[in-house]
Amino acid sequence: MDQALLTVAYLIAGVFFILSLGGLSSQETARKGNLYGIIGMLIAVVAMATGGEVTSFGPLVGAILLAAVIGATLAARVAMTAMPELVAILHSFVGLAAVLVGFAAYVGDHGSHAGALFNVEIFIDIWIGSLTFTGSVIAFGKLRGSIKSKPLLLPGRHLVNLAMLIGSIVLCVMVAKASPADGLQPLLIAAGIAAVLGVHLVMAIGGADMPVVVSMLNSYSGWTASAAGFMLGNDLLIVTGALVGSSGLILSIIMCRAMNRSIVSVIFGGFGAAPVAKPSGDADAGEAGEIQETNAAQVAGELLAAKKVVITPGYGLAVARAQHTVHEISKTLRAAGVEVTFAIHPVAGRLPGHMNVLLAEANVPYDIVFEMDEINGDFPDTDVVLVIGANDIVNPGAETDESSPIYGMPVLKVWDSKRVVMCKRSRAVGYAGVDNPLFTHPATHMFFGDAGATMGELLQALKS
Ligand code: TAP
Repeated sequence: MDQALLTVAYLIAGVFFILSLGGLSSQETARKGNLYGIIGMLIAVVAMATGGEVTSFGPLVGAILLAAVIGATLAARVAMTAMPELVAILHSFVGLAAVLVGFAAYVGDHGSHAGALFNVEIFIDIWIGSLTFTGSVIAFGKLRGSIKSKPLLLPGRHLVNLAMLIGSIVLCVMVAKASPADGLQPLLIAAGIAAVLGVHLVMAIGGADMPVVVSMLNSYSGWTASAAGFMLGNDLLIVTGALVGSSGLILSIIMCRAMNRSIVSVIFGGFGAAPVAKPSGDADAGEAGEIQETNAAQVAGELLAAKKVVITPGYGLAVARAQHTVHEISKTLRAAGVEVTFAIHPVAGRLPGHMNVLLAEANVPYDIVFEMDEINGDFPDTDVVLVIGANDIVNPGAETDESSPIYGMPVLKVWDSKRVVMCKRSRAVGYAGVDNPLFTHPATHMFFGDAGATMGELLQALKS
């Protein structure tokens, strides 16, 4: 393939990646977005393989096939709740690949690229790649529970980080000026420093805030790919890396806003020192007070007597895998003439769009699913809100309790409705580890039990 054709192919692939991101921004177009991404990647791989630089196809095809089998198997098996840890480990591969490609380019044939600029590009690629690699491995360990989720807050940690940053800048200047033979040692030292920095930054963040960190590492992996693009003179890698880098950053900012966190703290570490969540399922956790219990028959009666019902799903719905039963419940109610909608909080569950994916999986129609800002004003006209496996996202303390770690986080104002039915197993706290005064609110009835079982009972009660 000649150079002009290769450039056109890369351009087309880049356009497909942009279309893919656009498609993924809404549920209706998400499947198309995925397809565009696959087409873009196919064009990119074929163009790269036939572009003239690949001389031996055997190892390339072998590596792609092996990786495709491993990737497809992992993706098919992973539980939705374990998705953040899968994403974290995948980012670590991007980081490691960037480090290996960087060193290969440095010790290999520099050709026409040699010079200070090329050395700096290599340095940035290796430095961010190394930080992304170790940071992602630590994030994976924390999400999996194999590393303690408690933030490791070493004394003077910001000074240590600053010293590592200054040391890296000095090494970058040395690498920029050095010949390939002399520059290898400072480059190796810088990779080591970045690796330690990656560990230190992520260790300083509590496990509870790890999904934001994963999104931030996603952004870093994009920038490292972009730096690799400059280093290899590959325009597509530059564009794709920048797309991943900027979209990861935007997503992190959106998540931080929705959780009332500071993005600066995520980048520099040391946040998440907020109270570590008490384990979910602990019946003694939660606020002591008068709670009113309910049961399937009573809830079914209230739902059938209602004109307007809002269903608010949270993390517990994903744990119980009750989305199909909940969809059946909504269909049964709609068939009985009740207006049913779903209210989605931007950080409900454990990853962006978690609830949207679950509801889409159960074929809940998109036009009855509303985002928090669209639906928050409707609660005063709502007869019953069914809160299923959600806790923090419906906590009124976020508006009223200044001492609460989630104070200022926008929440779904379900308590404005006439009746709130909270379906969860116990009075345990949610992810943020804070008590929820909604349990004892006069409008609230607690419907205790695993959402899989209680939603099954409710469906039976509605049908009978
Ligand atoms: P949580 O506040 O974590 O509450 C989930 C509740 O579900 C728990 O209190 C638990 O209570 C209940 N539950 C667990 N398993 C259940 C089961 N099998 N059946 C019924 N109930 C079950 O979840 P949320 O309201 O969705 O809020 C999300 C939280 O995650 C927020 O604090 C948010 O900031 C944080 N977060 C979200 C994201 C993203 S991007 N979504 C990223 C990072 C952090 P029981 O144990 O009593 O059943």
